[in-house]
Amino acid sequence: MLNRLTIRQRILVIFIGIAFVGGTVQFLIAGRQLEAATLEFYQHHLETDALLVAATFAEPLGHYLEGEDEGGIGRMLAALQQEVGHDYLILDRNYRVVGYTANTGYEQVDRVPVSPELVEADSVQIGSDIRPNHVGEAALYLAVSVRYEGEALGYLVLSEPMAPAYAEVNRRYMELAIATLPVLVLVVAASMWVSSTISRPVQHLRNSALNMAQGALDTRIQVTTQDEIGQLGKTLNFMAGQLETLMKTQRNFVSNAAHELRTPLMTLKLRAEALSDETLPKAERETYLTEIQQEIDHMAELVSSLLLLARIDEGRHTQNGVVTDTASILHDLIRHWRIEAEAKQLEFATQIDPDLPELPMSSNDLRVIVDNLLSNAVKYTEQGRIQMTVASTPQMVTIQVSDTGIGFSEEQQRHLFERFYRSDTVRGRYNGNGLGLSIIEAILEHYGGQITTVSRGPGQGAIFTATVPLVKPLTARRSHLPHRQAVPDGSSH
Ligand SMILES: Nc1ncnc2c1ncn2[C@@H]1O[C@H](COP(=O)(O)OP(=O)(O)O)[C@@H](O)[C@H]1O
Ligand SMILES: [Mg+2]
Repeated sequence: MLNRLTIRQRILVIFIGIAFVGGTVQFLIAGRQLEAATLEFYQHHLETDALLVAATFAEPLGHYLEGEDEGGIGRMLAALQQEVGHDYLILDRNYRVVGYTANTGYEQVDRVPVSPELVEADSVQIGSDIRPNHVGEAALYLAVSVRYEGEALGYLVLSEPMAPAYAEVNRRYMELAIATLPVLVLVVAASMWVSSTISRPVQHLRNSALNMAQGALDTRIQVTTQDEIGQLGKTLNFMAGQLETLMKTQRNFVSNAAHELRTPLMTLKLRAEALSDETLPKAERETYLTEIQQEIDHMAELVSSLLLLARIDEGRHTQNGVVTDTASILHDLIRHWRIEAEAKQLEFATQIDPDLPELPMSSNDLRVIVDNLLSNAVKYTEQGRIQMTVASTPQMVTIQVSDTGIGFSEEQQRHLFERFYRSDTVRGRYNGNGLGLSIIEAILEHYGGQITTVSRGPGQGAIFTATVPLVKPLTARRSHLPHRQAVPDGSSH
């Protein structure tokens, strides 16, 4: 039932419920005790009175029973009622009325019926009972056994209406209620305050999140507290930031891809137009045809790179397969690049551990990694040497390619793995689309591996190091997320 209410309502219901039940219980317990104490005090007061009066009647009653009374008892009773104000009744041992003050209700009777206070007085000297009196109002009856020299002569009965005692009890209940009320009001006010301090920021979070969902990703929640809500706010801001970066990356990616495709398309169009001129000499015609073929090759390469990246981004890249004969497969892959390097007069050295373990990746992915690393090394080195080293530890296989080529600055290094990034040093001088290193990185992250690079500076050569873990990590990260940002504090991960 409770979970159909808002947090605010839930807090209110719980707080007020507890306060109400607790308050009522307290009120009842305290009230009971007050009531008992008040009534006891009242009765005790009258008992003392009755005992004193009973003692003064011992002798007169004795005389009376011996037939020596000359109206003494009647006078004493009248005087007593005048002075003290209670109603009295004197009985002999057989409950016969000896004397009374007015209003006891026994004016008419000769002998009173047995009642609880009289029975009790017989055994413990004083007895009490509360019952309606002759006019129907609750009254306290106190009976004291009157004794003279150890002999029971009769009883003194004192009666007093309970109304004043009950009025006192009611007054005390009122006082108690008045004292309890402000506490209840305080609790209700406090619960309203607490519930609104919780629900208002949640409402704010909700509105901001809705804003973000509607596309306003630059919305940021103002975080004013360090509590859970503040942390949630920070996390939402972080999420919005990540999404914003991601969206920007994706948009850039699309426009870069379009741009990369447009240039070769323009070339194709120009060459096709030129070829439509029938007077074009044969030699030129052949050059143009070769150029067209090259552009088509570049475009095909670009498109397959884009498709590969898209597959990895969407998580559709399968992780199946294992490279069993790692060392010899690597030698096969390298052969082509050794020829390319030697064609450029470059020294080409390899150091491949013959006992490499099985690699938990598809042989196609291994080929893409090695081809991209070696093609870069050969492409960006004009003289000197290229060295490829592959070694293993129980945890991973490390593929390292170093060259003595153009190298890069620290500023360039920061961007090398960005999609479509090509340094100013290479743009216009070397062919390429700037996707090779991003593809290596995406594939390696897919397998839980990574790629790092160092260069001592422009013209100082470069070293690229790729590692492939042999034990599959539990989670492989999605490479296209801007994951390098730190998660804001307070959120556990
Ligand atoms: N071996 C290397 N030496 C120096 N710079 C390199 C090397 N490999 C890559 N780079 C730099 O990194 C950029 C991105 O490389 P890559 O993603 O393979 O794209 P591409 O080779 O098509 O330009 C290159 O344009 C170049 O600036
Ligand atoms: Mg490349």
